[in-house]
Amino acid sequence: MSGLPGSVVVVADPDSLAREAARRLIGALATSPNENPAVCLSGGATPQALYGLLATEFSRDVPWDRVHWFWGDERMVPPNSPDSNERLATGPMLSRMPVPPASIHPVRTAGLSAEEAASAYSDELGRFRAAHRPAGAAFFDVTLLGMGPDGHTASLFPGKPAIAETARWAVGVPDAGQPPFVPRVTLTRPALASSRLVLFLLAGGGKTATLLRIAGGEDLPAGLVSRETPAVWLIDRAAAGEGTG
Ligand code: 6PG
Repeated sequence: MSGLPGSVVVVADPDSLAREAARRLIGALATSPNENPAVCLSGGATPQALYGLLATEFSRDVPWDRVHWFWGDERMVPPNSPDSNERLATGPMLSRMPVPPASIHPVRTAGLSAEEAASAYSDELGRFRAAHRPAGAAFFDVTLLGMGPDGHTASLFPGKPAIAETARWAVGVPDAGQPPFVPRVTLTRPALASSRLVLFLLAGGGKTATLLRIAGGEDLPAGLVSRETPAVWLIDRAAAGEGTG
């Protein structure tokens, strides 16, 4: 798989993908210039194995007392909903580890419109930045992202206004055009670009056609984001279109 913006690492299978992602995330935390490193978590199915590994096999390698956890996007559902990205990461990982509650920064959805939730999240990011980052420094030490079949990443969908946002760090997405059919909140390209390392995690043959479109230069959201960030595409052999034999 050549032509993707950034570097490309092909691993054997989803298990190797989770392990390689864990090693790289831990490495980035270990070399962070920040007393309070920040990780941006992704929704989707692919990072689930990573979250499980970080909370078990690799748990001693994560400075749980110092890291702050944020989300790249959220669905406007309660935090206990199966569709909640907050729940995807807190259930198998954050709730099991010694993480100070103040270090967990979910997108608050209760009683808010998507725009209101996005505005509150922008404020939260701004407060953290003012307290913990010198002027001009990258906000996130590690940003985890996935990619959908249409090339979306976080909740930046092709052809929707959020992908063109250049000023605000979080915006509402009234209509994702796909399940679950609820509004969302997403970080924007400038927010994702404020990262020391961006890991795209992709597994399975369902990703190959979209990866080839990006490698061919098509302006899909994941491709646009990867051009603006220190991106590493961690993909398994099936996603890379390589046979297993
Ligand atoms: C979301 C995600 C989204 C996801 C991709 C890939 O909330 O839906 O943040 O951008 O990462 O759709 O999802 P999979 O890992 O399930 O393929």
